[in-house]
Amino acid sequence: MTQATLDAIRQLTAADMAAVNAVIERKLHSDVALINDLSAYIIHAGGKRFRPMVLMLAARALSGQSAWAAQLAAVVELIHTATLLHDDVVDESALRRGRETANTRFGNAASVLTGDFLYSRAFEMMVEVQEPRVMAILAEATNRIAEGEVLQLMNMGDPEVSEARYLEVIQRKTATLFAAATRLAAVLEQTDDATEAALTAYGQHLGTAFQLIDDVLDYTGDAAHTGKQVGDDLAEGKPTLPLIYTMQHGDAASADCVRQAIAAQDVGAIDAVCRAIEQSGALAYTARLAQNEADLAKASIAFLPESQFKHALLALADLAVARNH
Ligand code: IPE
Ligand code: IPE
Ligand code: MG
Ligand code: MG
Repeated sequence: MTQATLDAIRQLTAADMAAVNAVIERKLHSDVALINDLSAYIIHAGGKRFRPMVLMLAARALSGQSAWAAQLAAVVELIHTATLLHDDVVDESALRRGRETANTRFGNAASVLTGDFLYSRAFEMMVEVQEPRVMAILAEATNRIAEGEVLQLMNMGDPEVSEARYLEVIQRKTATLFAAATRLAAVLEQTDDATEAALTAYGQHLGTAFQLIDDVLDYTGDAAHTGKQVGDDLAEGKPTLPLIYTMQHGDAASADCVRQAIAAQDVGAIDAVCRAIEQSGALAYTARLAQNEADLAKASIAFLPESQFKHALLALADLAVARNH
C-alpha cells in the first residue's frame, strides 16, 4: 500500500521532477574540478527529492501556472544538499544516501566549502526569479536552519534537554525548509494571504513529522533502506525525542541507561538504549506525535479544490510517518 502510493506520486510528478533535475544538472557546473566532483557525488547519490516534490505538487494543487516552480524546487534541493554536506561533517557521519559521506571521501574541508558553493549557487538562482518575496523567504529560511543546527549543537551530550527545546530544534533545522518550499509555491502562484499561510502551515507540520520519524529511524532503521548509519544520533549524544521520553517516562533503569549514554556520547550502549526506548513506549509516542503533525498538515490544506495533486500532498503527509527510508 505505502510503496504503491509513493510509486503513484512519483509517476504523477515524473515530468515535473525531470524538469527539476534538469535545472539542477545545468546549474551545478563550476570550472573548479573538485566542486564538480564533490557536488556530482552527493547529488547523483540519489536522495528522495522529497522537498522539491512537495513544492511542485503544491504549485500544481494551486494552479500550476508559474514557470519558475522547477527553478525554485531545484533551489530548495540545493539548499537541502548544502545542509547535508555541513551536517555530515558536524555529525561525523560516514554514510549518506547509501554511500560513504562526502566528508569521508573528500575530507571535511572540501565538504564544507562545497556546501558553501551549493548555498551560494542556490542564492544566484533565486535572484533570477526577480521576486523580492522569494528572496526574503529563502534568506530567512536558511538563517533559521543555521540557528537550528547551532541550537542542536548546544544540546549535545545534555540529558536535561526538554521536549519543548527538542521541538524547537527540529522545527528550525528541518520544518523550516519544508515550510519555505510550500510557501514559495503559494507566492509563485500568487494566492491570497490565507492560502499562503495554509500552505506554509502544511509544510511546517509535514517537516516536523518528517524529522520526528528521522529520529525514530536513527534507532529502528536499517542502513539498507535509510542509506544512513543507525546509531549516529547516540554516538553524538543527541537528545532526540525517543531518548527524552524514555528519561521522563521509562523505569529508573531505562532512564539511567539513556541518561548515561547521552552524557558519555557513547554508541557502545546502543543495544541497551534500543531496548530502553522500545520498552518505555518512546518510539510509539514519537510516532504518535509525528502522526498528529501529519494530521495537522492534512487539515491545513483540506480547503484546496479537489485534484490528484492535493491528494498526493495528503498522502505524502501519511507517508512521511509510515516511511522506512
Ligand atoms: C535528511 O533528509 C535530513 C533530514 C532532515 C532528516 P532526507 O531524508 O530528505 O534526505 P535525502 O535527501 O532523501 O537523502
Ligand atoms: C537533519 O538532521 C539535518 C538538517 C536539517 C540540516 P539530522 O542530523 O538528524 O539528519 P541526518 O539524520 O544526518 O540525515
Ligand atoms: Mg546528521
Ligand atoms: Mg537524523
